Amino acid sequence: MSTGRILEPTTESIEHCARHLQRGGLVGMPTETVYGLAADACDDDAVRQIYRAKSRPAGNPLIVHVSRPEQAQRFTEGWDAQCQRLADTFWPGPLTLVLPRSGRASDVVTAGHPTVAVRSPAHDVARALIEATDRALVAPSANQSGHVSSTTAAHVVSEFPELAFPVLDGGMCALGIESTVLDLTGEHPIVLRPGAVTARALRNVLPDLEVPVIGEQGASPGTSPRHYAPNTPTVLVTASQIEDRLAECTTPATVLSIGPRKVTGPHVAVEMPDDPDAYARRLYAGLREADESDGMLILVESPPWTDGLWRAINDRLQRACVPPLSP
Ligand code: TXA
Ligand code: MG
Repeated sequence: MSTGRILEPTTESIEHCARHLQRGGLVGMPTETVYGLAADACDDDAVRQIYRAKSRPAGNPLIVHVSRPEQAQRFTEGWDAQCQRLADTFWPGPLTLVLPRSGRASDVVTAGHPTVAVRSPAHDVARALIEATDRALVAPSANQSGHVSSTTAAHVVSEFPELAFPVLDGGMCALGIESTVLDLTGEHPIVLRPGAVTARALRNVLPDLEVPVIGEQGASPGTSPRHYAPNTPTVLVTASQIEDRLAECTTPATVLSIGPRKVTGPHVAVEMPDDPDAYARRLYAGLREADESDGMLILVESPPWTDGLWRAINDRLQRACVPPLSP
């Protein structure tokens, strides 16, 4: 059932959203990673609206979403056999490629940088929307800049309560964590943002891949260390520190625990799964739930694992726990 701005994805609602995009509007678009806030990639005024809606710094470029590799090629220069192999292996899917830009990628999309990011999402509704619009779509994650990303249509509406753009309901995102961003413009391919396409999977195609240490990357322009952050102060703690930290708290705290954890009132626990796929899928909903609880502090139980998808999860958790800059 469609309620207000949230539209059940049907041929009609997708056509309606496609016309809205062609006229320069914004649409909340489900993808397999997180929900995006979409606009026509070739309409600079529409793209500027995205920066305004998110309060996104003007220097932080957007990802161009396409339904086919040929569409991506038109926004890039130097699409070679290696790019084609990456697209053949990982697209449609959660891998974003950064390449030199062509004239089709505007300064607003690339934030004035000489490169452009492209990806082909694996969600049926996103693909149908790109096809129906017959344009490539820019789509940053559908959240206020620096805040927790959205993995349901309701999250998108809660991030933009004042705006009336429609949101296509594609259900809860299957992966729950943003795409891997791979920069192909340097001497060696380098991961700028870890995601569901892991370093191990990439190395099968790119033996000379570079993967920076978590917390030391940040080579993506316009990004700040603090990101994906709840409004409530949030800190990472090891499982063994939780009891002592709670004992020190004079006001209610919320523990984002891995598996069940008994905590005594006024503190509460929000339980997260110990399986990486399930943890990633629930990551942003869990952070939102903790943010909305009565806790004045969120204690995130640090996952002790670092391989595969845990790398991307730990990257997001570390950034969510960076304190805001004092005014
Ligand atoms: O999974 C995703 O990638 C989601 C869904 C909606 O597709 N989108 C997303 O977009 O996460 P956004 O804007 O929230 O994050 C894009 C990231 C940012 O870190 C940005 O700096 C980086 O990609 N990026 C975009 N263009 C770039 C470029 N030309 N060079 C380097 N990094 C770039
Ligand atoms: Mg984002």
